[in-house]
Amino acid sequence: MPRTTKKIARPLVTGNWKMYKTGEEACQFLETLAPLLEESQVDVSLAVPYTAISLAAQKVAELNASIAIGAQNMNDASEGAFTGEVAARMLKSAGATFVILGHSERRHIFHETSDFINKKVKKALQEGLQPILCIGETGEERENGETEEILKTQLHESLQDLSKEEMKQIILAYEPVWAIGTGEVATPEMAEEAHLLCRELVASGWGKRVAKALLIQYGGSVKPENAADLLVQENINGLLVGGASLQPETFYEILQQYEGITV
Ligand code: PGA
Repeated sequence: MPRTTKKIARPLVTGNWKMYKTGEEACQFLETLAPLLEESQVDVSLAVPYTAISLAAQKVAELNASIAIGAQNMNDASEGAFTGEVAARMLKSAGATFVILGHSERRHIFHETSDFINKKVKKALQEGLQPILCIGETGEERENGETEEILKTQLHESLQDLSKEEMKQIILAYEPVWAIGTGEVATPEMAEEAHLLCRELVASGWGKRVAKALLIQYGGSVKPENAADLLVQENINGLLVGGASLQPETFYEILQQYEGITV
């Protein structure tokens, strides 16, 4: 029985490869995935390691595939003496069209603050890279009833001073930290509640029209088995997939889950 939902746009499913795959491995992956996507009802993008961006972007062009290639982080400066860092301009010239910013692994392992992330968001927009801004609460914060407050603070601080026009370029990803890489996915109801809250927060800051058009992805232990129940939710417009995006077959199975859902 097809399920129905009122969706604002085609969903966007993004693979976040984290620190996996060389350029050559990325190309092999694309050769398997690209032919499967010809009739795809979802938009697809892949956030690959820096060193794979160039080769992956070239491969996508060669295969004439509609898969956007992006990065998983960047620095907020244009250039400078920042050993080991990468600038937005460099990502663009390598072939990236988007960048994940504020991922919880960046916030928690590398101690990135929302203020720093806000600077990166602004820089990415300035350079024409579309940001996927991640926000999400830890397990402890959820248990303490702080989810709403955390999402509100992270969203406002990370998107501080953005104009309506800039806000229209943003993709938001709700990623509960306790669900990332743990196999413990948020229930569709829990995720929907958080997505609705995010949309309301954006409506109060940037207006209803901007909020309605905002694409909000869910991320955290997405698998072929749970993707449909998440995608059917009214305020879930896509998925950010880590572990299950590393094998083209599994990733494709996730993309296929949207087919049973009537828009
Ligand atoms: P996961 O990662 O799907 O492996 O839980 C999601 C993410 O970190 O974006």
